[in-house]
Amino acid sequence: MTPNPSPGDLPGLPELCYGGDYNPEQWPPSVWREDVELMRRAGVNLVSLGVFSWSRIEPTEGEYDFAWLDEVLDLLAANGVGAALATPTASPPPWFSLAHPDALPVRADGVRLTHGSRDTYCVSAPAYRQACARIAEALARRYADHPALRLWHVHNEYGTWCHCDHTEAAFRRWLAGRHQTLDALNDAWTTAHWGQIYSAWEQINSPRATQYLHNPAQLLDFRRFQSEEMRAAFTEQKEILRRLTPGIGVTTNFVLGDWVPVDHARWSPSVDLVAVDHYPGDAGRAAEEQTAMYADLSRSWAGGGRWLLIEQAPNLIYADGRALAKEPGRMTRHSLSHIARGSAGVMFFQWRAPRGGSERWHSAMVPHAGADTAVFAEVAALGALLPGLTGIAETRVTAEVAIVADIESSWALSGPGMPSSDLSYEAALAQAHRVAGRAGYTVDFVAPGADLSRYRLVLVPSLYLVSDADAANIAAYVEGGGHLLVSCFSGVADEHTRIRTGGYAGAFREPLGIRVTELRPLAGGESVVLDDGRTGTLWSEEVGLTGAEATARYADGTPALTRNSYGEGLARYLSTRLDDAGYAAEFTAAAAEAGAEPVLADLPDDVEVVRRTGPAGALLFVFNHSREERRIEGVSGEEILSGETADGVLVLKAGGCAVVRE
Ligand code: GAL
Repeated sequence: MTPNPSPGDLPGLPELCYGGDYNPEQWPPSVWREDVELMRRAGVNLVSLGVFSWSRIEPTEGEYDFAWLDEVLDLLAANGVGAALATPTASPPPWFSLAHPDALPVRADGVRLTHGSRDTYCVSAPAYRQACARIAEALARRYADHPALRLWHVHNEYGTWCHCDHTEAAFRRWLAGRHQTLDALNDAWTTAHWGQIYSAWEQINSPRATQYLHNPAQLLDFRRFQSEEMRAAFTEQKEILRRLTPGIGVTTNFVLGDWVPVDHARWSPSVDLVAVDHYPGDAGRAAEEQTAMYADLSRSWAGGGRWLLIEQAPNLIYADGRALAKEPGRMTRHSLSHIARGSAGVMFFQWRAPRGGSERWHSAMVPHAGADTAVFAEVAALGALLPGLTGIAETRVTAEVAIVADIESSWALSGPGMPSSDLSYEAALAQAHRVAGRAGYTVDFVAPGADLSRYRLVLVPSLYLVSDADAANIAAYVEGGGHLLVSCFSGVADEHTRIRTGGYAGAFREPLGIRVTELRPLAGGESVVLDDGRTGTLWSEEVGLTGAEATARYADGTPALTRNSYGEGLARYLSTRLDDAGYAAEFTAAAAEAGAEPVLADLPDDVEVVRRTGPAGALLFVFNHSREERRIEGVSGEEILSGETADGVLVLKAGGCAVVRE
């Protein structure tokens, strides 16, 4: 039997995948022929096929129409294009919803949704799960030996919510598995507060609409449950596909966003290839920094190995309610930034812009105007340059700095009744990542329980929730000689969102050598100026020293920033949200003290660098995101994209990028 693929190993896939979501079911066969011709011109070698095609494949229950899909797959194979063949379970057909109204999702306010969009199903409904298993099996049996089949793309963006009876029954089963006894659940959820003590499992609901604030531990467990429930649904399909097509990798596309009840870090071991959709939410410079951050997060989910950018928009960024066009060259920079940070290719949503449907205005590799366009020209140019990056799969990003990230802290921080709703976890992570990147450092993201020993410096931005075991892991890292930079409101709650008493920063009090006795969130627009001139916003704390020294103080003379020797290592604490300049000063001091080196020092503004190293040498990716030419010092080697040689200095035009074989 063929061994199952290991994570990040891409059996049958090209070294760099290039293509996008392909929806031939929306077009007549004459267009398919033009599609494959254009795919060849664009260098496309992989398409995500059939993602929303369930109603076309199974027009009535149990009757399949595979003829059109046979023809499309044959055409793709004949033109050297592989298929990431989807199981179309993110959009059950209308007949399914009519036959199984109990499989339609129910909102928190009790409204049952109706068919008419996509993602309108309850992932816990037995009829839905059975129908998913049937369609996955039918596809696997039909196409097991098709030469175009390269990868299974299960479902689309797991991330739905439901509060129906099926969901609640599954939630209770999951809770019984997690907490074992009602006493343990009552304790973990602090149900003595507001008289919520449960005396039977049936009394527990999903967090449906209620009179006032929800129990934060119930909300958190419900998110955890949904994540695990969707993982179970994915795994059911994966096992069917594995059994019938053992040599083909199975993945699903992760969707990012704070509304998504999926813990991608904990999910990742279940997929053969971490595949991520990325759509920046800001049209300014932040788009590049979001690209870099989510690409680094994706690499961390892939355990440092290869992952795949499976969707991005060719030519738009949604921001402020508008679909803004990317300026020429920006799509290429975003694409290469993903590759620099570990993506095994570049995939788009979508191949051809549709004439109708909700996404008729979403950009595409082939726009409404056709292939004789600047967008298609840039798509084809990118497709032509990717083969020049051969050998990239042998290289890896190595980082000396890590950022601890855990989505559970984000979920807990967005819970009800918090001291401030301004302290966004994502903003804290983004600041740490942005500041490190601007200083020329590449960082890994790591889970709080990960082995930290290979990092010289570890950043812990607002890690509100942490278990005892994970806190001990981080403390042991410092004790053994590691350097730590913790920022405000970290270590405050345990894994059940219960506050650690005796002083805030509770889980990290010992390594930090501090005890926080009061939280002092700042009003909107308010800021604090420290005695070294640095500025903080959003947050401040009353910090007591239990071993640490104060490196900067608030106006009232109390400590604001601290530094503590602990074991062989050093731990710093920031009790306010410093602005970028202030955080950068702390970061560079900490990195220097830890002996961590940037990829390149003294980077000009708006220049991004990433180095990948491998047995045959290093590849240095350099991006100029500014609108002016930039001279980057310290770069030598053959520039692959232009064929020119850099000898100590690389000059990049506005919006340009380079890949230098050092
Ligand atoms: C993704 C989704 C695609 C498409 C795209 C539009 O999140 O997977 O199907 O909707 O967004 O940006």
